[in-house]
Amino acid sequence: MGKSLTRKIIESHYVSGSMVPGEEVFIKVDQTLTHDINAVMTYLAFEAIGLDRIRTECSVSYLDHNLLYVDNKTPDDHIYLQSAAKKFGVHVSRPGNGICHTVHVARFGAPGKISMGGDSHTPHGGSIGMLCIGVGGMDVATAMTGVPMRLKMPRVVQVYLTGELKPGVNAKEVILEMLRRVSIKGGLGNVYEYVGPGAAKLEVPQRATITNMGAELGATTSIFPADEQVHKFLKAQGREEAYTELLPDEDAEYDERIEINLSELEPLISCPHQPDNVIPLKDVERKPVQQVFIGSCTNTSYADVAKAALVFKGRQVNENVSCTCGIASRQTYKELLRDGYIDMLIDAGVRILEIACGPCCAIGQTPATEGIAVRTSNRNFKGRAGNPTAKIYLVSPESAAATAIKGTFASAEEILGEDVKKLAEIHEPEEYIVNDSMIIKPLPEEEAKKVEIVKGPNIKFLPVPEEPQQHLCVPVSLKGGDNISTDDITPASAEFSSMRSNIPLMSKYCYHRYAPDFSERARQMSKSIIIGGENYGQGSSREHAAINPMFLGVKCVIAKSIARIHKGNLVNHGIIPMLFEDPESYDKIDQGDELEINNLLDQIPTRKVEVFNKTKGFSFFVNLDLSDNEVEVVLSGGQLRFLKKQLAAQEK
Ligand code: F3S
Repeated sequence: MGKSLTRKIIESHYVSGSMVPGEEVFIKVDQTLTHDINAVMTYLAFEAIGLDRIRTECSVSYLDHNLLYVDNKTPDDHIYLQSAAKKFGVHVSRPGNGICHTVHVARFGAPGKISMGGDSHTPHGGSIGMLCIGVGGMDVATAMTGVPMRLKMPRVVQVYLTGELKPGVNAKEVILEMLRRVSIKGGLGNVYEYVGPGAAKLEVPQRATITNMGAELGATTSIFPADEQVHKFLKAQGREEAYTELLPDEDAEYDERIEINLSELEPLISCPHQPDNVIPLKDVERKPVQQVFIGSCTNTSYADVAKAALVFKGRQVNENVSCTCGIASRQTYKELLRDGYIDMLIDAGVRILEIACGPCCAIGQTPATEGIAVRTSNRNFKGRAGNPTAKIYLVSPESAAATAIKGTFASAEEILGEDVKKLAEIHEPEEYIVNDSMIIKPLPEEEAKKVEIVKGPNIKFLPVPEEPQQHLCVPVSLKGGDNISTDDITPASAEFSSMRSNIPLMSKYCYHRYAPDFSERARQMSKSIIIGGENYGQGSSREHAAINPMFLGVKCVIAKSIARIHKGNLVNHGIIPMLFEDPESYDKIDQGDELEINNLLDQIPTRKVEVFNKTKGFSFFVNLDLSDNEVEVVLSGGQLRFLKKQLAAQEK
């Protein structure tokens, strides 16, 4: 049998381990990316490791998420990140150049490479045949040392696309259809490989919408072949030399197959409060919409915004709707400006925002109380837009524009009628406007050594966990339900994002919206355990959802299931992730119960630990879904301690 594209790329980067799905494999990483609201901890960790320079082919630090300098904190972070990048040989994409994933694919990505990014939407790069994996910041720091990265060898699912998208139907519909079928946790451990005649017709930015939001399936990543569409895209970016054709074998073996006929897709909508709550747009109850946001890395390519602009052309944003547009890169913005589409948006009353993530992570444009917000971004968790009473719906840019005009949910066809066909004439440019003047290149090594890293008052220390002890007897500081997201644990928003370099301050807001009294309670308990339901830690890759609880003394999380990236972050930051062997044990535990574990260090390598509930007087077992390497990291007290030992051993 032939090989999938995923298998070919992993094989070409293989260092050690087993390539059997579910087992641990170690791979060489070519590229990394970080962004401003997660990266300070990454570079503090890299500093603590003690290397002079990165050992990847290319690492890029993007300043793109929080560009609202409402006080000293974010500028402090940006100055720190820029100086750390200079010191360590990292490229910097300056504020205003664009959102990390969009810029990375356009200016740095190449087929066949492996990239790890400190952001869950890193799989965006799968659109050009790269294997791009979202991880926590400590993993990015590790990848930058050149140490081979651990990966659970994925199952590879073939998604066979046939047909062609109808005008007014966007690539967003493909990923919403996948979410409807697979669910937010159905993709765990999988790579989704999109092939077939339908895939061949999708342009790279359309593919990026699909691979980007594949993160919402809980998947390891998603990927398209590097074919003629990728060639065309890289040529249009003036980087034809980066292209290599990379396809799965004709008779490639897959672990599962899904088929979608693109011609049958209709506009879809993801309803609050989970991305997989997907229904046909025509079936949603027509409520008044308060806010529309066309933006984010997921859905603001040239063609996306141009199509939305054509829906708006000669029409007005409804008087009851606040409609904003945040374009993902300076390059796209200039092209849209050149071709008159920005004018169409402005004439319609759309407010053009800065080139940044902004509202996608609650940095500005918070909806009103109980407000209905319609967005082209990728997550609709409660509170994701900064207001837990708001209800977020996710749609394509064409549907978002139609909704902004109508004041209630609508499709492009409802606005344009027969003219909807004109949307099919819009394609990506043959040649993009290339201007890399906002990218700061690394200094030569000798010059870089002289650079002083600048640490303003917002840059605090990197907390390092304690090593685990044989005996643990601690109370439960929180019992949570299913699908707790990293947004629930460490809220987004301008206010909280700018605290991410300052853990003593930020930890005060840990679980701020979900359980406002958690932080103080955990602090008073000094050491504790968190109990969670299914899919604990889903969503954003932000490792602060592990660092803050660790700083507050949380030693273990016992849950029914734990999302992939978050599990890695817990391991890296010294919190032991544990899974209920019998989910019924969950029901018998209450917040405040005292849990005791004896011989913990001896039990960890067996992956099965007995826990005694002293308050209720019963024992239960938990399993540790940890690889050999993760067991070593846990026993070392986190990745930083482990990595230092490993590098010291290599130097001998
Ligand atoms: Fe930014 Fe939202 Fe994408 S926060 S990186 S635009 S998912």
